[in-house]
Amino acid sequence: MPFTVFVTRHLTPEAEEKLNAFCDVEYWSEETPPPYEVLMEKTRTIDGLVCLLTDPIDKQLIDQAKSLKVISQVAVGVDNIDLDAATARNIPVGHTPDLLTDATADLAFALILAAARRLGEAIDYAREGHWQTWGLTTLLGEDVHSATLGIIGMGRIGKAVAKRARGFNMDIFYFSRSRVPKVESELGVTHVSLPELLEKSDIISLHVPLNEETEGLIGAPQFEMMKQHAILVNTARGAVIDTDALVAALKSGQIGYAALDVTDPEPLPHTHELYRLPNAIIVPHIGSATRAARNNIALLAVDNLIAGLKGMPLPKAVVRGK
Ligand code: NAP
Ligand code: GLV
Repeated sequence: MPFTVFVTRHLTPEAEEKLNAFCDVEYWSEETPPPYEVLMEKTRTIDGLVCLLTDPIDKQLIDQAKSLKVISQVAVGVDNIDLDAATARNIPVGHTPDLLTDATADLAFALILAAARRLGEAIDYAREGHWQTWGLTTLLGEDVHSATLGIIGMGRIGKAVAKRARGFNMDIFYFSRSRVPKVESELGVTHVSLPELLEKSDIISLHVPLNEETEGLIGAPQFEMMKQHAILVNTARGAVIDTDALVAALKSGQIGYAALDVTDPEPLPHTHELYRLPNAIIVPHIGSATRAARNNIALLAVDNLIAGLKGMPLPKAVVRGK
């Protein structure tokens, strides 16, 4: 009997070919995620699950999936999965670090540049016919080169952003759970407390995972500590920022700009006030969305799944299982 696997969305053709050759696969073929009841029903008797960050893989689901042998997430962040429940059942959980690090750091830098140089506003200005002459004070933004950058979360992506910032001659500070002396010496970055980082930085970029400590890490008290022209960039997870406090800080001019790849809630409803603020840029969670990165992470997710089904260690695991 071949293993049965449910995949909560279509993967890339190369990844699907590899997966189909190994097991009996059902793909959820809609663009939006399977509703929770469908996910419950589809996972009840399967051996393996490939899921995305939009799928809530909670304790109830894990406990009722009696023959589940492996969960393979096509993303590095796994805050949608109850890892304790998977650990309790000895079910390994795979994820896809490294292969999307540079693509996500590129997007973080694109957002830094777009916010500092007001690209969204400038594109609209030209497109809407306001461009009549070269104006000395038209659409003035902030310098990125030589600015002070504060990185919150100095892991894989935080470090890749720091590397890019070196090329822009930026002063780089970071706050993270653990100090990383090697990165400090290699990249010339300085570890500071969170309040110090918020006070010093012209640009703040978030790179922590969403967990109990980072949920709401940036709220009203933190906005009060930031500079008035501060630019806040989020390519981590939406809930690291208190959205209402962000809207208030942008509207009152307490901070200068926000550029968000991730939001809370996500997706951000089309009617949300944030879309109407001139000093906010929102893109729809495209951090790792390059052809190469997405194909590579889909292939790694397939490799994780196959290893789990074979009872072997996953190439990249957040929960190892037995
Ligand atoms: P990583 O290598 O694990 O880096 C995360 C860093 O955050 C680590 O240095 C970690 O410290 C630190 N950290 C964890 N909890 C913290 C806390 N409570 N306070 C301060 N620092 C804390 O992960 P990564 O690969 O860089 O990815 C980071 C996150 O980016 C992912 O979890 C995901 O949510 C998000 N992401 C988003 C996209 C996108 O499309 N926008 C793409 C990829 C990733 P320790 O070393 O002590 O653990
Ligand atoms: C994307 O957000 C990821 O965690 O890979």
